[in-house]
Amino acid sequence: MRRKLIVGNWKMNGSLAMNAELLSGIREGLAGIDCDLAICVPFPYLPQCQAALEGTDVALGAQDVSAHAVGAYTGQISTRMLLDFGCKYVIVGHSERREYCNESDELVANKVQRALAGGLTPIVCVGESLYDKEEGRTAEVVGRQINTVLSVLEEREVCDIVVAYEPVWAIGTGKTPSPLAVEEVHAMLREQMIRKNPDAIECVRILYGGSMKPGNAEELLHMPDIDGGLIGGAALKASDFLAIARQA
Ligand code: G3H
Repeated sequence: MRRKLIVGNWKMNGSLAMNAELLSGIREGLAGIDCDLAICVPFPYLPQCQAALEGTDVALGAQDVSAHAVGAYTGQISTRMLLDFGCKYVIVGHSERREYCNESDELVANKVQRALAGGLTPIVCVGESLYDKEEGRTAEVVGRQINTVLSVLEEREVCDIVVAYEPVWAIGTGKTPSPLAVEEVHAMLREQMIRKNPDAIECVRILYGGSMKPGNAEELLHMPDIDGGLIGGAALKASDFLAIARQA
């Protein structure tokens, strides 16, 4: 049985004061939650979040990592640095980085390799644009994105990643695909991973992301291949984030 995982992606939001309120709301509301929880926060706030989450089971993560180990890469952040601040997870290949930072499938695959080599669990994001969806190319695009990552992994490493399916057109828009449509893509993703490592039927969690909120989480999280959520907007309010987690 795959344990559900709910991850908050704060994106480029927050301030020391706003975070303090959000973090204490999360700490105070953890009773009765029976799933894995994590927050992926902006780099400068990792120490604040690490201190605030101490003694809880809420894991910490970052939103990106360098494909390089160390050296002359101005502005980049290494796996080693993330480990120094207690990170367990790192989001890799979010569509906002693919789009605004021109991250290619190959660079995303290299970052996944680097994250694994550095001892972090990459949350590998895949998802089609509205154009791709309207052209009927969802399976092709998402299949290409996941296969580029799988092509650089050892068989055993397949079990060390988390995958997040995020249709780009559903992110921050209030639109979500039907639970059945999401399930279909997740089942396809799982099938690709099983081809590389049959254990993926049990060991890989596939999250859904894109306008998940307390009102639609339950039906999504009850589909057989939806193992959790990658939450953007709703993760900025402790009560919404925890309400989603309570349905997992
Ligand atoms: O990483 C999170 C996703 O991009 C979803 O964002 O919940 O604001 O739509 P959203």
